[in-house]
Amino acid sequence: MADSFDVVIIGSGPGGYVCAIRAAQLGMKVAVVEKRATLGGTCLNVGCIPSKALLHASERYHEIASGHAAEIGVKTTGLKLDMKAFHAGKQQAIEQNTKGVEFLFKKNKIEAVHGTGKVVGKGKVEVALDGGKTRTLETKNIVIATGSDVTRLPGVEIDEKQVVSSTGALELASVPKKLLVIGGGVIGLELGSVWARLGSEVTVVEFLDRITPTMDAEVSKQFQRVLQKQGLAFKLGTKVTGVAKSGKALKVTVEPAKGGDAETLDADVVLVCIGRVPYTEGLGLEEAGVALDERKRVKIDAHFRTNVEGIYAIGDVVVGPMLAHKAEDEGVAVAEMLAGQQPHVNYDVIPNVIYTWPEVASVGKTEEELKDAGVKYRSGKFPFTANGRARIAGMTDGFVKVLADAATDRVLGVHIIGPDAGTLIAEAAIAMEFGASAEDIARTCHAHPTLSETVKEAALAVDGRALHM
Ligand code: FAD
Ligand code: NAI
Repeated sequence: MADSFDVVIIGSGPGGYVCAIRAAQLGMKVAVVEKRATLGGTCLNVGCIPSKALLHASERYHEIASGHAAEIGVKTTGLKLDMKAFHAGKQQAIEQNTKGVEFLFKKNKIEAVHGTGKVVGKGKVEVALDGGKTRTLETKNIVIATGSDVTRLPGVEIDEKQVVSSTGALELASVPKKLLVIGGGVIGLELGSVWARLGSEVTVVEFLDRITPTMDAEVSKQFQRVLQKQGLAFKLGTKVTGVAKSGKALKVTVEPAKGGDAETLDADVVLVCIGRVPYTEGLGLEEAGVALDERKRVKIDAHFRTNVEGIYAIGDVVVGPMLAHKAEDEGVAVAEMLAGQQPHVNYDVIPNVIYTWPEVASVGKTEEELKDAGVKYRSGKFPFTANGRARIAGMTDGFVKVLADAATDRVLGVHIIGPDAGTLIAEAAIAMEFGASAEDIARTCHAHPTLSETVKEAALAVDGRALHM
């Protein structure tokens, strides 16, 4: 096996594996080092894919359990949750996707090297192979794509059984009676929803005074209301100061974030999800002289170059949103750059989706960001209650909001809470990528009856011309 490559990528997540495929397409000889047994990184193994599999299955269960299916005549008796099959479905989704990456590696003649990679000098990656041996790969370029890891909460030990991170929350063998979620962000609300749909009493403890603090505030507010209707409870402006085990039960001590009296909450399972941190452990970056920034992310310039020539970094381990599609786009960009092209990632147009029910999706600036920047804007809003297709499906919670520059009408941000928001947001992203105005969206013919008509109507509403409201 040749040990000399054009590019060696450390990490096979969405950043690393997509970078590998694009580099191979462009004629480069590529190796990817991965310490996990399967390819695909956090996303395919313990992130995007398994979480969406559980969201999908729990949503189907809840449709029947909540009586929604019966309301439209789909009556069932003897509803039962088969936990073994529930998890097996998720496992199948993981395997299909990780095997898919394996297939793409073979197709593109990319070598997967299983072991832990370490940068040992310019153009040299040493791999501690799974079997115990060491192999040194020589390469013209190194791409660090090692992703991220769970942020720990001091004093709260994660055992992945009773006190879990997202990884343990994807594996719970039975439905906890009481689930306490620390952190009202994306993971807490997605995985909190999964277990709430299956019958858990879910309480979300959030340090700040609102959930999903980086989303548009109006959307966050509506989101919390809808989740409360579904039975999730929230303790905002609250911090967890300790989790004590007493047999199978957990006692969680919380107190107001600003100080005040402590109280104790009971839980069977605690999910810690207060963000993720870049993962650079054991990579040898310090010895190799690769600089990190103030948040321990690998420091890069606008071309993904670290301060050491020939070493690049992408994905969760560098600055920017920790999202699979952002990592993928950066992977493509680095590969194309190495091939002498001039790619570009537009960080102003990276969609963000929370796959709860309803979904929440956004792209571009929030109202708060525009106000802070002193940008004058006009806003158009359209509710799903006024959309025929949403009414047919009984999915009328939420709205679409289009924010457009007051002077030029250029779309600056789109925020959606509602059915299939994650798919609808793609239209807004394309419009923004092409520099569209709200008027451009408003004048585009949208098929009837579809949920996408809400986007057109919100764009019309920017100019006070919504037709069905
Ligand atoms: P990763 O996917 O983390 O991959 C890095 C890989 O590098 C890992 O496999 C790791 O084993 C390997 N590695 C690390 N160090 C070494 C080393 N020294 N040697 C060899 N290998 C090494 N994002 C979305 O966009 N949509 C979602 O729906 C979504 N859902 C998520 C759900 C959960 C529960 C979690 C935790 C995350 C989710 N994310 C989602 C975030 C998404 O998973 C990450 O943004 C994405 O995986 C980042 O890709 P990456 O390539 O940078 O790193
Ligand atoms: P997050 O950043 O989304 O949310 C963390 C929340 O915890 C925030 O609301 C924060 O204010 C709160 N918090 C922080 N410290 C706290 C404390 N001590 N006590 C109580 N609350 C505290 O992080 P999360 O949910 O862990 O997810 C990590 C990342 O994974 C996300 O930022 C996202 O990039 C990615 N992800 C993306 C998904 C998607 O795209 N659908 C799904 C899941 C994860």
